[in-house]
This record gives sequence, structure tokens and C-alpha cells, in this order.
Amino acid sequence: MANLEAGVSTDKVTAMIRRESDHYTQRNPTSQRFAREAASHWHNGVPMHWMLDWSTPFPLFVADASGSTLTDVDGHKYDDFCLGDTGSMFGHSPAPVAAAIAEQARHGLTYMLPTEDVVEVGKLLTAKFGLPYWQVATTATDANRFVIRWCRGITKRNKILVFHGCYHGSCDDTFVRLKDGKPIHRPGLIGQVYDLTTHTKVVEFNDLPALETALKDRDVACVITEPALTNIGMVLPQPGYLEGLRQLTRKYGTLLVIDETHTISTGYGGYTRTHRLEPDFLTIGKPIAGGIPCSVYGCTAEMAAKMKEAETASGPGYSGMGTTLSANAMALKAMRANLEQVMTLAAYEHMLPLSERLARGIEAEIRKRNVPWHVSNVGARAEFVCAPERPRNGTEAQAAMHHKVELAIHLYLLNRGIIIAPFHNMTLVCPATTAAQVDHLIASVGACIDELQN
Ligand SMILES: Cc1ncc(COP(=O)(O)O)c(C=O)c1O
Repeated sequence: MANLEAGVSTDKVTAMIRRESDHYTQRNPTSQRFAREAASHWHNGVPMHWMLDWSTPFPLFVADASGSTLTDVDGHKYDDFCLGDTGSMFGHSPAPVAAAIAEQARHGLTYMLPTEDVVEVGKLLTAKFGLPYWQVATTATDANRFVIRWCRGITKRNKILVFHGCYHGSCDDTFVRLKDGKPIHRPGLIGQVYDLTTHTKVVEFNDLPALETALKDRDVACVITEPALTNIGMVLPQPGYLEGLRQLTRKYGTLLVIDETHTISTGYGGYTRTHRLEPDFLTIGKPIAGGIPCSVYGCTAEMAAKMKEAETASGPGYSGMGTTLSANAMALKAMRANLEQVMTLAAYEHMLPLSERLARGIEAEIRKRNVPWHVSNVGARAEFVCAPERPRNGTEAQAAMHHKVELAIHLYLLNRGIIIAPFHNMTLVCPATTAAQVDHLIASVGACIDELQN
């Protein structure tokens, strides 16, 4: 009997990886040449190591991208469902953002002084996300780092709490995981010389009793979480979980930080607005300025008042927050155009049904072939998981990952003109994505499963 992994033949998976890797190499001579040349001057051949996280033998070099389409340097066009892993979630170079960038480029890029756009962007953020006060940082990582600092400053508590399997950027405090019920450092950290578990607690998502036990000592400044975990496959909140999280954080004087960087896919105003969450702080980066490095964090009026108290209490000096290029004129101009003209209700009205079509379409392909896989989606973000059950927490989500099977699928799709995120099986649709592109993806996933089964 054939060996099976995730319900498909391991031999077929291995053969597909080999065949598709060879095919990729043959079809991409220019990318291969660029990769060889780049290797002379870039550590590991790329300017940022995530560019190596794709399933390909060497990175795909990009020549152009527009809307939902990407073109590589060998001239192949791709339906892009990765969209820069959310940075371009509203399409590559949306016209209003591109025009705003061109316009601002003639008037200075950064001066560490506000422009008129600051006035408008503040109003837009409040109108969209509901929170009255905002600050700008350069990446979601930074927004999270700064908010954690504020929470500690406000509550005068030294610990934070994260969920096993979370990701909030390269934010040191959050690099804690569970192993056999004990907190450990996330595997693979380089240069980690102090013990992160001293100041970070970790529990499983969707486990209110564990959360309550961790908060009871009243030493946790904040819980930081995505409303659905999207960085370890996808873990959806069980009914009542987020309400319970809010009640427990309030009960024990712990602040709640909702990281909407990925779940902005949920709907207009993100998961928070769609599901009426009540965070103390909300953070979001990646697509907030249409792909220009920029992030924001918002807070309630109560938190804003406490931030002032914390500032007064800590006295003059450096707060440990802020970076020189944050809130530069270019980022603000791009964010204004993006909030006014791109991240609109109309955009979501296009994206949400299309992502639903994608999720249900892949689900149907899976069912037809009776493979033990499933699909989850939060609005415009969908994930097909090569395991039968929807995971309830990070441990189950981790167990549901089948890296070789995912690698084979990614390569198969890439060679057929489809890009999905390099991490697990994540797809995003943008305002420019078409039904034809979605149907092509659905059919290709079906054809890929056929090859892995037969
Ligand atoms: C939920 C979440 N928060 C924060 C970040 C960090 O974003 P950045 O790498 O742009 O700082 C990520 C990145 O994937 C993320 O998924």
C-alpha cells in the first residue's frame, strides 16, 4: 500500500517536487542568472532572507506588478494571491496611491514635520477603525513594539501575554511559545541573550481557563493577539472566545491589543469593526499605506489619557518609541490616498464574495477527491489546510502543517502562473482580482490533488 501524508501519496509528492523544481529552473533562466550574480554581494543571495522562503530552487525575480498580476524577469505573468503577504492586499500599485507617491515625490520625502495630510489621515483612521487617537510607525513590528511599551508604562506591570503560534513581527517580546505546557523561546532565534519567558506568558488560543490562570496574578500589562491567528495556518476564534478574552482582560486590569495587520482582510474596518471588538489598542501595518512602509496604532480616549500620565510619570528623556522616518510626508500622502480611495467599502464588496468563491471552490475540489483537507477564511484571506479538522489552537495548527505537500503544491501552482503565499497555503484576493483568476486557482488546486493522488 502506498505511503500517505495528508491523504496523498508521499512518492507522488517527492516526484512532483523534483519535476516542478526542474521545470522551474528551465523556465526561469534570467531569474537564475540574477540569483547567481546577486549571490556575490548579498548575504545568502538576497537583500532580505524571507525572499528565500519560497519553494523555488532560486528566487523568482520580479519585473513588474500591477493590480492582481505580477510579471517575472523571464516574461511570465502570474495571478498573484500572495500580494506581498498582505502588503499589497489592495492590489499592486493602486492608481491613487501611485499618483500620490508621484505627487509627494516632487515636494520632499521626509522632514520630521507634519503636513496637511496628517489632519486628514487622523480623521480617516478614526472614521474607519473607530478609535479616537493614533500614532504612526514604520512597520507593524514597530507599532506592536511601541504599543507593548505603552501598555507596560500605563499599567506598570512587566509581563505581556501572547498565544502559542502567534506572530506579531520581529518583536522580541512575542517570541515565546509553548512546549509540553511550558514557555520556551521560539525555535531558531539568533542572538537571543536574555530570557524572554521572564516577561512573556504564553497560552493556547481558544482556552479561556488557561488565559484566566495566566491573568490572575495581575502582572500582565497586555494581551496582544490577532482576532484569528493567521500566521500558523489559520485558527479561528470559537464562538464566545473573543468576548471571553475581553471580559477576562477587563476583570484582571490587563489591556487588550488587537493586531489587525492581517485580519484587515475581514471586512471594512477590519475584524474589530466587523465583529464589534473593543480593544484598548489596535495595530495595523503592511497594507495601510498601499505598500509603502508604514503602520499605525490607535487607542481609546481612556488609553490616550493614561499615555499622558505615563509620559508625565517617566519625566523628560527618550521614551524608547519613534523612529526617524516614521510618519514621513510620503507615507502620510500614500496612506491618505489609500484610506480615501483604495481601502473602501466598494473594494471589500468586490473582495469578500470573490474570496468566498475561492474558499468554497477549493473546498469543493477537496470534497470531490475526498482528501482530508479543509478551508478557512476571514474575509479576503483564505487558507486551505492539508488536514481534516479545523485547528482550535497553535499546537493543532502546527500539527496540521505538511511542509513537503505544501512545497509541492506551491511549485506546481507557480509553474502554472499562480502565486500563493510562501508560508502555508494562504491566499488573498484584492480589488483587481477577477473571477477568472480565482477559477483558475481552484481548478489548478484540483488538478494538483489529482496528480498527487493518482
Ligand atoms: C499579524 C502580524 N503582525 C505584525 C506583523 C509584522 O509586520 P512587518 O513585518 O511588516 O513589521 C506581521 C507580519 O507578517 C503579522 O502577520
